Amino acid sequence: MCSSFMTSTVIVGGFFGDEGKGKIVSYLAMKDNPVIAVRGGAGPNAGHTIEHGGKTYKVRMLPSAFLNPNTRLLVGPGVVISQEVLLKEISEFGVQDRAFVDYQCGIIEDSHKAADSEGRLKESIGSTGTGTGPANADRAMRTLKLAKDVDSLALYLDDIPNAVNFALERKEKVMVEGTQGTFLSLWHGTYPYVTSKDVTASGICADVGLGPKNVDDVVVVFKSYVTRVGEGPLKNELSPEKTAAKGWKEVGTVTGRTRRAAEFDFDLAKRAVMLNSATQIGITKLDVLYPECAHMQSFSDLSSPAKYFIKNIEDQLKVPVTLIGTGPDVNDTIDRRDEL
Ligand code: IMP
Ligand code: MG
Repeated sequence: MCSSFMTSTVIVGGFFGDEGKGKIVSYLAMKDNPVIAVRGGAGPNAGHTIEHGGKTYKVRMLPSAFLNPNTRLLVGPGVVISQEVLLKEISEFGVQDRAFVDYQCGIIEDSHKAADSEGRLKESIGSTGTGTGPANADRAMRTLKLAKDVDSLALYLDDIPNAVNFALERKEKVMVEGTQGTFLSLWHGTYPYVTSKDVTASGICADVGLGPKNVDDVVVVFKSYVTRVGEGPLKNELSPEKTAAKGWKEVGTVTGRTRRAAEFDFDLAKRAVMLNSATQIGITKLDVLYPECAHMQSFSDLSSPAKYFIKNIEDQLKVPVTLIGTGPDVNDTIDRRDEL
């Protein structure tokens, strides 16, 4: 295989979201220069954090690939949109000329946000309160407004499945970005403590109109430890004190809630590899487990325990670990795709 990714690459989370997909996607966008980055997944309940050149960006609606000025930023018809969040990101990142959403993206209204911010969804599921779940419920009821029905998005509408497949026909690179993580999937996750969509690779592809035969690579991203926000089971969950002592304390991008944490879970990871048909694995935050590895860009420079951690993941999951995060900046990345 060549050093950059093949024509279409799908990137999804392997645990409960917040694996660091945003950082991996931004790295791939800068390195491989895709013509299109397209987002599937649920909605603005997602939060991806990207750091580059001393700046921190948080995205909830646009693909995390926006740092590359050559890449068109698309949102597939399976995603529900907050007009407010989308328009704010388009103007904040200055991407008016290259951001497009599908005519058939669903539209979140104030009533959806209100329904998501109280009662069972908020209290027993721990929903993000962004209106994503109630909007998807209305979509299933065939009552949800679509992007083509609202004036504010008129400038940004396009046929996204058509754009994606046309680019692939011309052998142009397309990156497909998932949100949340495998075990927050409505079908495959820890129901009812899940999001309102299937967020495995197949679901993400359906969201953007990419058929199963047109997927070349699936990168499943795991963090070096597991975190979860909101309610629901987390095997071997550490106490808040132990989490803090390990330096694993994190705060949610969208909700500001403290994330719960546990050690890397091989059983979950194996199942995520199966459900997503992973061809490559990304591991993020290796520097949090092994501070001596911070900012490294070459596998051979890693300490022996860090190398063993990665090799053990490869042995157990039987999929190569090609991308390794060693710090928050996009460039704090080890890229081993050349070695495949
Ligand atoms: P909802 O998707 O907002 O309804 O939230 C359902 C569950 O999924 C809650 O436990 C949320 O904390 C979790 N969740 C939703 N989106 C994300 C995400 O992007 N990262 C992490 N957890 C999420
Ligand atoms: Mg997140």
